[in-house]
Amino acid sequence: MFVIILLLLSNLLIQTQSGASTVVIDPNTFSFVTFTPESCTNGELLCMGSATAGNGYLSLTPEPQQSGNSSSLLSNTTNNVGRVLYPLPVNVWPAIISTTFTVRITPFSENSTGSGDGMALVFAQDNRPSPNASYGSYLGMFDQSTQGGGFQQIAVEMDTFMNEFDLDGNHIGIVTTSITNPLASESLNSSGIDLKSGRDIEVKIDYDGWSKMIFVSVGYSESQLKSVLNHSINLPDIVPSSIYVGFTASTGNTFPESHQVLNWVFTSVPLPILSAEHTKVGTIKTILVVVAVCLFPFIWIAASLRRRYTRAKKKGDIESLSKKAADIAEVFTYKQLSRATCNFSQENLLGRGAFGSVYKGIILDSGKTVAVKKISATSKQGEREFLAEICTIGRLRHKNLVKLQGWCSEGNNLLLVYDYMQNGSLDHFIGKGSLNWQTRHKILTGLASALLYLHEECGNPFVHRDVKPNNVMLDSNHDAHLGDFGLARLLKNEGSVTTNLNGTLGYLAPELSFTGRATPESDVYSFGMVVLEVTCGKRLNWLKQGNSFVDSVWNLHSQNALLECVDQRLENKFDEEEAKRALMVGLACMHPDSLFRPRMRKVVNIFQNPNEPLMELPGVRPTGVYVSVSSSTSASNSSSRGELQIQSSTKSSDGKFNYV
Ligand SMILES: *[C@@H]1O[C@H](CO)[C@@H](O)[C@H](O)[C@H]1NC(C)=O
Ligand SMILES: *[C@@H]1O[C@H](CO)[C@@H](O)[C@H](O)[C@H]1NC(C)=O
Ligand SMILES: *[C@@H]1O[C@H](CO)[C@@H](O)[C@H](O)[C@H]1NC(C)=O
Ligand SMILES: *[C@@H]1O[C@H](CO)[C@@H](O)[C@H](O)[C@H]1NC(C)=O
Ligand SMILES: *[C@@H]1O[C@H](CO)[C@@H](O)[C@H](O)[C@H]1NC(C)=O
Ligand SMILES: *[C@@H]1O[C@H](CO)[C@@H](O)[C@H](O)[C@H]1NC(C)=O
Repeated sequence: MFVIILLLLSNLLIQTQSGASTVVIDPNTFSFVTFTPESCTNGELLCMGSATAGNGYLSLTPEPQQSGNSSSLLSNTTNNVGRVLYPLPVNVWPAIISTTFTVRITPFSENSTGSGDGMALVFAQDNRPSPNASYGSYLGMFDQSTQGGGFQQIAVEMDTFMNEFDLDGNHIGIVTTSITNPLASESLNSSGIDLKSGRDIEVKIDYDGWSKMIFVSVGYSESQLKSVLNHSINLPDIVPSSIYVGFTASTGNTFPESHQVLNWVFTSVPLPILSAEHTKVGTIKTILVVVAVCLFPFIWIAASLRRRYTRAKKKGDIESLSKKAADIAEVFTYKQLSRATCNFSQENLLGRGAFGSVYKGIILDSGKTVAVKKISATSKQGEREFLAEICTIGRLRHKNLVKLQGWCSEGNNLLLVYDYMQNGSLDHFIGKGSLNWQTRHKILTGLASALLYLHEECGNPFVHRDVKPNNVMLDSNHDAHLGDFGLARLLKNEGSVTTNLNGTLGYLAPELSFTGRATPESDVYSFGMVVLEVTCGKRLNWLKQGNSFVDSVWNLHSQNALLECVDQRLENKFDEEEAKRALMVGLACMHPDSLFRPRMRKVVNIFQNPNEPLMELPGVRPTGVYVSVSSSTSASNSSSRGELQIQSSTKSSDGKFNYV
């Protein structure tokens, strides 16, 4: 369930021309890979005050002008306020939110000490412009009259000017009603990051609606993000459920600086409303108590009979399911697995995935080496459903699937025991050149067979939902074993999946955004991406490249030069026909229209049989399925999805997509 919503996040990325902006249209989810001059004028964004777009980025405050004399330059660029908002409201609670963006802050003068004032990511109560006098230290959020209250808003500030109330001129803060009194602030000095360096800085902000914590990480674009600030916040106390999200920035009256935003991904995954349910249950309970006191003698007899009956039924039900699950996969005790993995020690840690950490272990009784997956969040579903899912996963057997050996569910601990794979996951091999072509071809064939089994051969069609190199494990012989199937369903409401958004975007089929339903065809799409990565030896970085990698393969295909994109590290030692067929299969699998994608059976045949005819492939990249959101769509309106119009569009002569 959760991953389906997650798939939604990734959503439909609408690619206009290469290098043009990319937007995800779903009320709570969108992505801008870059910005074009039209971003501010075509309704994709609301740009207010001094904000403009162009050259691939948003300029919240003016850029340094080369022309003109210095006094007019100063008068035009000081005391500016820019605000850019996503035009539709988004729901921020109850939800898990993750947003990542890249900023570039450049002082106009060499001496940056006095330049300011900074920028912020803001959740605003409405889509109005910044207050007129919110320049300078107010960062476009308050003016004198609203400072101290007046707006329901929350912002993560990147403050570059040291005011008398500030920690320094290089800090991150969380601000709600007062700029002089932030909820939290943290200098970036210790992280070695200089906001005013003019370098690209990636900022990631997560809010976990379960734990009510906000997490801020920052890093120079080419290096790892560092966690800089965690703070406990209850969003419902601060902002309405439906807000406008965007950026503000300001300059003061001394030295200005430019504030640019280069890309932006925002996702909000709704959570079930627990508190409301609880109060409802509470009220019902109160009424029942009152009634029960009056009718106690009668009710007591009836209730005790009923209790006995349901308890017996539930117990029998779970017992029979447990038996079935135990039949299919071994039940381990927590103690057994803890001993097998040396108490889940760091030395045994094989990796961390979306659902938890994986440890290498040796089962003492059998001496068997296994991989133990320790699920990090507790499953939100009932015991009955859980056992049913274990049965489903345990039942699936194929030489190219990672086999579930056993499981353990004690208290809050949930552990799954799998076959141990000596060579780890496929993602570690991509871009290294260590696998020769035969091995790569074998891996892709194996992965295709696993998907064919899941889709067509295992009884009920089973959709994997998360096909990507991280989930393809390699045994000692470099044979592929697809892992993590069924986990999405097993762990409903699993939040940590959002933390690896960039690792999942790009593998998700475009139609998932509006249907929200993972299908065999959406797995086929993800498989296509893996084929391109493995054959070209390139790892996808969605946030930075968006669709450009896939575009480049299409371009080579159009020029009849597909083989040029085959991994250079193979040093031309590969079967040209096989490589070409693989790439064409990859492209065909990634057709934006799911109806045109090949089925896994066809794909397996092509990989296994050199005489199997290829599917037809258009000469140029088919253009995306365009989704337009009707203007009446509101984020809180659950029927909005019904108003989405879907139509395969063709590129018009100016290269732009036709809006439906
Ligand atoms: C600079 O421009 C301002 C207004 O645009 C003008 O008043 C001033 O005379 C100019 N100064 C110089 C040195 O050209
Ligand atoms: C400053 O703004 C004025 C009008 O607002 C414009 O005519 C002038 O060219 C601008 N000067 C610079 C240096 O951008
Ligand atoms: C930079 O500017 C600040 C304040 O305007 C000043 O105090 C400092 O001396 C300047 N530093 C340099 C190296 O010019
Ligand atoms: C802000 O400025 C605009 C245009 O200059 C003006 O119409 C508006 O009344 C001002 N708002 C406030 C609150 O002063
Ligand atoms: C961070 O570094 C700047 C410049 O070196 C310094 O002025 C400032 O005081 C430092 N901040 C903290 C909190 O130490
Ligand atoms: C914030 O929390 C995360 C996860 O709990 C942790 O890894 C990180 O070190 C924390 N960061 C700070 C600055 O406390």
